[in-house]
Amino acid sequence: MHELHISATDKTQQYAELLPQLAALLDGEPNLTANLANTASVLKQTFGWLWVGFYLVEENELVLGPFQGPPACTRIAYGRGVCGQAWQQKTTLVVADVHAHPGHIACSPLSQSEIVVPVFDRHGNVFAVLDADAEQTAVFDERDAAGLGQAAALISRLHNC
Ligand code: SME
Repeated sequence: MHELHISATDKTQQYAELLPQLAALLDGEPNLTANLANTASVLKQTFGWLWVGFYLVEENELVLGPFQGPPACTRIAYGRGVCGQAWQQKTTLVVADVHAHPGHIACSPLSQSEIVVPVFDRHGNVFAVLDADAEQTAVFDERDAAGLGQAAALISRLHNC
């Protein structure tokens, strides 16, 4: 039983409290699926976003991995959607209004804003993306890019991918 303790209301502080607890939760567990599932859970519990989870690179597309939230699209082609664009550009994408973003894939009509963070292997290739969606516009900013980037780096490190 792992209980999460987040008392801060400030987002930077929430990440500062969350990241060490996430590291402790993942530490010693070699199974990637288990660790991605717990990461999605911790993020959902802390921030209450509509959807948060992972897509994993499989050949030339992304395939849905562990997540929390409503059912989602299962496959996304390279360069398609915000997820496929983050993979192609090897960079974090913060989208304030998904309806104004070219190529956005609407898995849920409730999603208004989104962030996608690539997860890199040790060769610098993207092997997964961490995606979060919110029901309000402009929910994500550079604090999420930094915090989720650290979560992604933790997963890369632990799995020496
Ligand atoms: N909106 C994403 C698709 C994935 S879902 O939001 C869970 C995209 O444009 O890639």
